[in-house]
Amino acid sequence: MTCRIGQMRKTVEPCSIVIFGASGDLTARKLIPAFYHLFMAKALPTPFHIIGFARREKTDDQWREELHAALQQFSRTKPVDEAVWMEFSKNISYCQGDFSQPEDYKKLEGQLANLKNEQLRHNLLFYLATSPSQFAEVVEHLHNADLLHHELNDKTWQRIVVEKPFGHDLESAYQLNSDLTKYAHEKQVFRIDHYLGKETVQNILMFRFSNSIFEQIWNRQSIDHVQITVSEKLGVGGRGGYYEEAGAIRDMLQNHLLQVLSLVAMEPPVMLDPEPIRDEKVKVLKSIRQILPADVAKQVVRGQYFAGMIDGKLGPGYRQEPKVKSDSNVETYVAVKLLIDNWRWSGVPFYLRTGKALPLSASEVRIQFRPTPHVLFAAQCGPKLDANALTLRLQPDEGISLRFNGKVPGTSLQVRPVRMNFSYNSEFGAYTPEAYERLLLEAMTGDATLFIRRDEVETAWGIVDSIRKGWGDKPLTNREFYSAGTWGPVAADDLLAQSGHAWRDPRPIL
Ligand code: BG6
Repeated sequence: MTCRIGQMRKTVEPCSIVIFGASGDLTARKLIPAFYHLFMAKALPTPFHIIGFARREKTDDQWREELHAALQQFSRTKPVDEAVWMEFSKNISYCQGDFSQPEDYKKLEGQLANLKNEQLRHNLLFYLATSPSQFAEVVEHLHNADLLHHELNDKTWQRIVVEKPFGHDLESAYQLNSDLTKYAHEKQVFRIDHYLGKETVQNILMFRFSNSIFEQIWNRQSIDHVQITVSEKLGVGGRGGYYEEAGAIRDMLQNHLLQVLSLVAMEPPVMLDPEPIRDEKVKVLKSIRQILPADVAKQVVRGQYFAGMIDGKLGPGYRQEPKVKSDSNVETYVAVKLLIDNWRWSGVPFYLRTGKALPLSASEVRIQFRPTPHVLFAAQCGPKLDANALTLRLQPDEGISLRFNGKVPGTSLQVRPVRMNFSYNSEFGAYTPEAYERLLLEAMTGDATLFIRRDEVETAWGIVDSIRKGWGDKPLTNREFYSAGTWGPVAADDLLAQSGHAWRDPRPIL
């Protein structure tokens, strides 16, 4: 029996979506394909309208043609359904404008008024697909053009959707947040972390809190440690310019990995509403013991890949990637041991790691349970007797696997680990909507559960800042390099070995 949760959820009201930075990659690769699929699934309201706002001169038709070409390339379903596209594209238009010019916002206002529908004119989702340095300017102009109102009222709404990076440290994030909330209420700001749009990440809450057997053992009495791995096979490739400013800790750990950690470690919320859920997540982040600069060497490992073989092909080192300095010390790998100082988790290490140019693209959470007491089987098998483990495979081969020991059939007494697997594909079929589809729909309904609240962003930056302070401008040492195609620097193994632990590298769930 399937239980539908959230049936009372508000439906999506007719609205206009205005995309700032409409000529960019994000619009072509992610946003328009997501809206197209939502339209195909009849999930968009009637009516709706999409306006692209960007500097380049072009007509509505030219923009539609560009989007059509992009859709053919990036759509998750192919071929593009031309009849659906024809209908969908009737709701798309273009507004040529400069972010800094007040009169261009007036022009936008005029275009919205021309839609001759009060809801399309006043229910507005502003998607800032721009550089964060332009957020403050765009928001101020929207306010001045009477398009964005700070107050929330029941009749109409305006919301702002922004993408990471939300700053590059706590101070800049604070500034950015202050700029955004100067003309809009925090509840009108939707900060995307696309990991929260992934089915498997959303399932962490369902899995934990809708099954009594797991929640009872989800604590320091039963769990030895937790490993969260987000590994990527690709190197930095063409994104060297951005990556030189970010590095793995800002690009991945500050957001995706800490978000996953907070879902794994949070207390049950009092209800499945955005604020109770986000309150619990932020409590976890705030309970993470600060890593003092002097302890960074003991608790954090950074690394950078040099040239190496991936899938039988020689890949370049990070320093040879385009737009990367030849003596760059930016980390392409980071592993960290975090301790959460609360009643549930005291003394349980959470090991987080992420890196580029690793052997496999895979994200997973491994809950490693405590070993059995040293009697009976453990006394005879020693470390060969595996402790139980639960793996939440986030991507690819999405699934959950429970590892436990069983008797090998036969007359001799032998014990070995076996697995019980749940695979999304075999259970639910190949249903893989893009994270953006879910996130855009949630932003249109005004449900902020899957978006990051200001205090979450700022607390996460506090954690990252103290680590970065410990690194200072020290250059990477030899021990911090790893060959592309391997599981990171050896120091990452030592990080776990200090406590008698070892990384379990992701493997496909069959
Ligand atoms: C992005 C990072 O946020 O996430 C990229 O900027 C990274 O560097 C990407 O490759 C990973 O996302 P996914 O969904 O492929 O795991």
